[in-house]
Order: sequence, then C-alpha cells, then structure tokens
Amino acid sequence: MKIGHRGAAGYCPENTISSFKKAVELGVDYLELDIQMTKDRKLVVIHDPTVNRTTNGKGKVKDFTLQEIQRLDAGSWFHCNFAGEKIPSLSEVFDEFAGKIGILIELKKPSLYPLMEEKLAEELEKRELTSGDKQIIVQSFDRGALKRFHELVPAIPIGILVKNTGVKMISNKNLKSFSSFVSYVNPKITMVNKRMIKRIHYHGFKTIIWTVNKKNDLRTLKNFHVEGIISDFPDLS
Ligand code: G3P
Ligand code: CA
Repeated sequence: MKIGHRGAAGYCPENTISSFKKAVELGVDYLELDIQMTKDRKLVVIHDPTVNRTTNGKGKVKDFTLQEIQRLDAGSWFHCNFAGEKIPSLSEVFDEFAGKIGILIELKKPSLYPLMEEKLAEELEKRELTSGDKQIIVQSFDRGALKRFHELVPAIPIGILVKNTGVKMISNKNLKSFSSFVSYVNPKITMVNKRMIKRIHYHGFKTIIWTVNKKNDLRTLKNFHVEGIISDFPDLS
C-alpha cells in the first residue's frame, strides 16, 4: 500500500484538504492523518497538540472551539499559495474522502483528550464506517487507547506505532500480547531491519513503515515485503 503522510506533506501544508487531494492525485491507496480534539470535543486533523507550528495562531488545540480553530490559516506557513487553508475537522475529511480512498487515522496524544477513542468510534458509527471493510485503519503510539478503541469497534484494523526508543515494545513477548487486538505493527524507518520485519510477520502481523522519503529505503523495503509504506512524497519510486 502506498500511503501519503499527512496527505502529501512534501508538496502541500500537512493535514489539509489540499494535501489530501494532492496525495489522491499522486495515486495513494491510503491517506495518513493525525487527530486531536477541540474544547467543544470535535476531532480535528492536526499533528501537534498546539497550533503554533502549522498555523498563524498560538495555543493548545484543546483550548480552541472548532469554530475558533478553523479561523486560523493553516497554509501560509508552508507557502503563500496555500493562504487561507484551514485545519479540517475529521468530519470534513470523511465527507470528502471516506469510501473513495483508504484513511489511516493516528490518534495523537489521546492522554490529553479524555474519551477521544469514544468520540472517534461515534464518528465512524454515524457514517457506517465500522464494518472493517471500509478501508479505515486506526493507529497510535498509545497502546491503552488502541485497546479501548478496539473494544468499541472490534472490526476496524489497529496499528501500533513504534519508534527507536520503544524497540522493547516489540519484543517477542510483547508481540504475543498484542495479537488479541493489533493487526499492524508499524515501526519507524530508522529502526527497521530484515530480521525485525521477519519477526513481525512471523507473529502474524502486517507492517507499515514510516516515514520513507529516500529512494534507497524504498528499494530495501520492497525486498522486505512490507505491506505498506508511508511517505511525504507519495510519488517516490
Ligand atoms: O504514521 C506514522 C507517523 O505519522 C508517526 O509519526 O510524528 O509523523 O505522526 P508522526
Ligand atoms: Ca502521524
């Protein structure tokens, strides 16, 4: 699977409708995106827990209402051509893309947002996207949140994210313990080697590698037979 990181973050301001449209244009199978929650409990698509880096505003996502956060400019920081781009709600992304292309949703910092998993489950149920065959995958670094989400919506495939500091997370013992709720084990490219991928596959998981922006890495991963590759440049070949 070819997966566009935050849409096509190499070409457009990340996690915006323009970025997702660009990724679709470049032929991705899935859009990767990050969600956080506003003060009025709306799920919004933004990577950081603050708006500082990717908008013209300042402050924590959880201190804005949806209406307030959508007044910010989420495009100009990237390039003036994207001035006026806004932070999409997850609902707007679903309106535009759900059912047409896969969506890989990352629960970002669920510990900051009580009942975030429930909110996502509700949103998916409302749109009849919970059957597991609607090309929705939910991933996170937060094991607890993933477990809770899986209990709410058991048919949706779950991915557990792993970075270098969490390499112990994918010991054989832990991999065994994930098998009751996890379908994908998704390590960062900088920690990947052939043995690790074999081990992940041996335990019955699929794997999606992030974030792959170098041609060499892409070539290597093709030989490892990984199931998915996430890139800022989805046309990398
Ligand atoms: O999809 C995995 C990757 O997006 C996780 O890292 O920081 O880009 O959200 P980050
Ligand atoms: Ca992400």
